[in-house]
Amino acid sequence: MSTVNIAIDGPAGAGKSTIAKMVSAKLGYIYVDTGALYRTIALYISENHIADEDIEKSLPGADVSLRFIDGAQRVFLGDRDVSELIRTPEISMEASRTSAIPAVREYLFGTQQKIARENNVIMDGRDIGTVVLPDADVKIFLTASPEERAMRRYKELSAKPNCPCYEDILCDIIERDYNDMHRATAPLKQAEDAVLVDTTHLTLEESADEMIRIITETVGEERK
Ligand code: DC
Repeated sequence: MSTVNIAIDGPAGAGKSTIAKMVSAKLGYIYVDTGALYRTIALYISENHIADEDIEKSLPGADVSLRFIDGAQRVFLGDRDVSELIRTPEISMEASRTSAIPAVREYLFGTQQKIARENNVIMDGRDIGTVVLPDADVKIFLTASPEERAMRRYKELSAKPNCPCYEDILCDIIERDYNDMHRATAPLKQAEDAVLVDTTHLTLEESADEMIRIITETVGEERK
């Protein structure tokens, strides 16, 4: 039997990864965070000081891979687990910038399709429903207002040292939204056949329940 593929797209900070993790744990699917792949390429480019004009020819040497350890995704650069290293604001911005380069997207395309061919997945990103898995069984476009996304991020960071102020976080979110939506290759947009879920006024549990409802309604209980 073919695998079940659920595509989730949406802007940064809409809660895609947290909600998708909750849903995949409940439904027994593998959760794939494709943003981690773009972040890892960004880390590779920045650690090796690769100039833009050299990025394309450097990609075969990057050796980016996803591994699933106890059901959780880890991302590797060669033999090095970089899952935590890629979560800095600098890498967020660098990933947003370098993910616009067509050669970077092509390099990661096959990796994402292979995982979906071999596993039941909930895959999140920006172009999963539109480009990577155009035949996904269910497509969800998850969003929330920029202010609400910035507030959530601020609350998450406020306990940590050197927390940026709310206004800076909001500016970053607006800039990344703009980059992701206006690039020429695979811009962030809602697929025509995607269901829109706006989480601005929903809790995480309510958002996860809504997603489970949409998935089971479409895929059916028996294929969960
Ligand atoms: O989901 P994230 O914030 O970790 O993603 C980091 C960057 O990678 C984001 O700015 C856009 C890019 N990205 C992409 O272009 N396509 C994807 N499928 C996933 C992420």
